[in-house]
Amino acid sequence: MAVLTAKCSMDMDCPKEVVVWNYYDHEHVVGTHYKYYSAFRILAERDDWCLVERYYKLPVINLRASSLGFMYMESPSLIRSVQYGKLGTVLEQEIQLEHLGPEACRVTSTYRMEVPDFARVLQPLFARVIKRWFQDTWVEDAPMRVRRWKVWKLGFRDFRGIDYVNEKSGKPDGAGSYRPHPVRLPLPKTPESPPGSGYKRPFDKSVEVGY
Ligand SMILES: [Fe+2]
Repeated sequence: MAVLTAKCSMDMDCPKEVVVWNYYDHEHVVGTHYKYYSAFRILAERDDWCLVERYYKLPVINLRASSLGFMYMESPSLIRSVQYGKLGTVLEQEIQLEHLGPEACRVTSTYRMEVPDFARVLQPLFARVIKRWFQDTWVEDAPMRVRRWKVWKLGFRDFRGIDYVNEKSGKPDGAGSYRPHPVRLPLPKTPESPPGSGYKRPFDKSVEVGY
């Protein structure tokens, strides 16, 4: 057997806890990443682990694929994900989250996939597909993470918004200053309709996504 590998790393202007929130926010994949993902279904989710089926299109080779992914937190700084492809492939992903300061972190994602020996020649293509995927989804995720961090500091609460904005009562003293982001998993989400049906991409084409 041979192992195909790829490693990507980028710095982010928000704490690593916001990045964890983003990784566990399944719903955004068919919204923010609508160009890649068409549907997903959460089969099971508890505490910091989840089992999610996802349907997507791979960049560069333009291949439609789907996988069953198990994701969990090995430690507060390490997320692991194993994606079982329908064609028998297994993609292991290690997401390292490094604290760079109160409002900054580094995300380093390492991918590996075991393949039969003859497929060793696919290494350059594998690295190209993974790096494009990482780069494209990063560009889409980054503004959302930064925005989440900004509104979080203003007192944002999921499905409630910002109280002082809702009540039109004016910005209280201290709003916008540092407020630690918790890691509370699983994340609250919009209920499926009907239950068990999964979530689908809301549209195929868009200029700007309202997330
Ligand atoms: Fe994302």
